[in-house]
Amino acid sequence: MNTDMNIDWDARNYAEHFSFVPKYGRDLFELLIGDKLKILDLGCGGGMLTKELCDRGHDVTGTDLSESQIEYAKKCFPEINFFVSDAVTLNCNQKFDAVFSNAVLHWIDERNQPLVAKNVFNCLKKGGQFVLEMGGIGNNALIHGELERQFAARGLEYRMPFFFPSVGQYASVLEGAGFRVVYALLFDRPTPLEGENGLKEWMDTFVKAPFYGIDAAVADQIKMNAQAALKDRLLHDGVWYADYVRLRMKALKN
Ligand code: BEZ
Repeated sequence: MNTDMNIDWDARNYAEHFSFVPKYGRDLFELLIGDKLKILDLGCGGGMLTKELCDRGHDVTGTDLSESQIEYAKKCFPEINFFVSDAVTLNCNQKFDAVFSNAVLHWIDERNQPLVAKNVFNCLKKGGQFVLEMGGIGNNALIHGELERQFAARGLEYRMPFFFPSVGQYASVLEGAGFRVVYALLFDRPTPLEGENGLKEWMDTFVKAPFYGIDAAVADQIKMNAQAALKDRLLHDGVWYADYVRLRMKALKN
C-alpha cells in the first residue's frame, strides 16, 4: 500500500457499496469532445467508467495505483488494457487524445499536484484534453470538521488526508504545467449513502490515514460519536448524506 495515498482498497467492497463514485462520474463524459478517442483513464479504480468509455466507442486504457483495484478491473473486463501506475511518477510510452480522471486527484498530496499535471500533459498529444472531477474546496467539510473535534477532545491531532482545491488553485496547477483551462465548475452534491450507519461506514472506507496508530476500538468510538454529532445535518428521512463538493475542470494542451 502507498500510505501517501491514504488508502488500502478493498476493491469488491468499494464496487458493491460505493457505486455512486463511478455513477456520478458519467456526467463527465459530456466534456470529452470527439469520437473514437484514445483515452487514458487515470485512477480508474475497478474499471467501471473505463468500460463505459469503451462502450461509447473510445479506445481506453485504465491505470490505477491500487494493485487490488487493477486486479479486480482485469477480472471484470479482461478485454481492456489496465496497468498499475502512480500518477506522481507516470511516464507514458504512448500519447493519448484525452486523459480522464474521476474522483482520484484529491487523494494526492498538494505538493505532488504539479508533477501529476505535468505527467498528464506529457501523456497527451498536441490538442489533447484533460477532463477531471475531484473533491473541491469545502468537500466533506462537516465530516472532517467533526472528526477534528472528536480527535481534539481526546488530545489527538487530526491531519486532513485530502487535497480539496478551489477553482483558482487547481487552474493554477494546470496552467503551471502548460495547460489552457477552458472549463471549471465547483458545485455542491449531497450524496446519499447506504445503510443505517452509512456515515460511519463511509468513514471506515474513505478516512483511513488519520486513524493509523489509533486503537481500533477508540477509532470506532470516534467515528460513531462523529456520526451521532452530525445527525441533525447529514441524516434526512432516515438516509445519511455525505456533504460532497465537486470540482470539475477541462484543460487543453495547445
Ligand atoms: C470524493 O470523491 O470527493 C472523495 C471520496 C472519498 C473521500 C474523499 C473524497
